Amino acid sequence: MNRKQILFYALFNAALLSCIFIFKDELAIVLFVGVVSNVFIVYRLELVHQLENQKRVSQAKQLNLQQEKNIQLKSRQIETIVSNLPFPIALMDTHGNIVLSNILFDQFVIDHNQSLSYDSKAFQQDIGSFIKHAYIKDEAQTKTFNINGIDFQALSIPVFDGGRSSGCLFMFLDITKILEGERVQKRFIADASHELRTPLSVITGMIRILNRPDFKDTETLKEFVDQIDKESLRMDNIITDLMVLSKLSSNRVILNPELVNLKQLILDVYTPLKRSILEKNNTFTLEIDEKIHLNLDRVKAHQIFTNLLTNAIKFTQDGTITISSEISAPFCIIKVIDTGIGIKEEDQKYIFERFYRTDQSRSRASGGSGLGLAIVKSFVIAHKGEIEVSSTVEKGSCFTVKLPL
Ligand SMILES: Nc1ncnc2c1ncn2[C@@H]1O[C@H](COP(=O)(O)OP(=O)(O)OP(=O)(O)O)[C@@H](O)[C@H]1O
Ligand SMILES: [Mg+2]
Repeated sequence: MNRKQILFYALFNAALLSCIFIFKDELAIVLFVGVVSNVFIVYRLELVHQLENQKRVSQAKQLNLQQEKNIQLKSRQIETIVSNLPFPIALMDTHGNIVLSNILFDQFVIDHNQSLSYDSKAFQQDIGSFIKHAYIKDEAQTKTFNINGIDFQALSIPVFDGGRSSGCLFMFLDITKILEGERVQKRFIADASHELRTPLSVITGMIRILNRPDFKDTETLKEFVDQIDKESLRMDNIITDLMVLSKLSSNRVILNPELVNLKQLILDVYTPLKRSILEKNNTFTLEIDEKIHLNLDRVKAHQIFTNLLTNAIKFTQDGTITISSEISAPFCIIKVIDTGIGIKEEDQKYIFERFYRTDQSRSRASGGSGLGLAIVKSFVIAHKGEIEVSSTVEKGSCFTVKLPL
């Protein structure tokens, strides 16, 4: 009931009361009853009005409480998401104050007082200035930084509220692996083209000479044709190795394991290489228990030991080459030992990388492309095995292959 209605009822009752005083008889009684019932109606209406008001207030309170709960839940959810993001992230207002950040960001950029610590060691000067300049800009900004060998992509995204800038979202993404992948790919392509260009330029140079109208020397012709044949074979080998490696890097090594007699496998590797062992005046010893059987992919295991034995022959002259085995659970340990030129300590950690050749082998006419050991390592790993090298310059090398029993 509103004020106007109350006023109306009050005036109406006043009029009735005046009538009681004026008429003072039966009519007055009727009028008196009318006044009382009117007062009662007014009182009742007022009571209903009060109850409605109270109900409305309590409903509003409940609604507020529910809304508050919802807001709290939402903010907890946002905090959980932000704090679990695997990279530093923070929301900054237009004055440069951190509104929300995760622990990674705090460790990376700010101190515990929620202010930017431009002097912190981890937080380099250029990142500080990136943040300083980016949070006032209306457009997204990106920049890459390298901090202690880690490559970061810094990203700033302006945040708008009702069309007006309300701050900026900062993220720092670790892109080391992506950049490293790109670098490896570029180096691989550069190395592969370099390795292929060397034999190709020898072939084209010789063909040009052979094509000269005045060329008649039959002896040189034979020599060149032999050389072209060798270089083409080398290119063919490089391409085959590259295809093997590309399959390996795209995780497509499919093993076809079978029970293989180790001694027989090594004999199969040795037989076609016997002549080259003798040609270099090397003696070959095999110390393998003929009872050893391993679960191996025969073709890939054959390639592992062919590559190792070929290297031993290539880098050994007038020496000895031994292949031995011993059981040391859970592995069968196979050693390919030679008494050749050896490998410098600083080279030993790189020889399993693609295209890596030591200076000694580069200066030789041996013509390898540095892919053999990379393939060996990948095949050994595919068998869940391990490979390592120990070597002394001028004394010889020992390649140890551990294959699971
Ligand atoms: N038994 C060894 N004695 C001395 N140096 C070795 C021996 N095995 C490998 N190396 C060194 O490691 C390098 C890499 O060997 P890897 O087998 O990968 O390449 P490569 O033999 O030069 O060429 P590829 O095997 O592709 O024909 C060789 O170039 C050589 O410098
Ligand atoms: Mg080799």
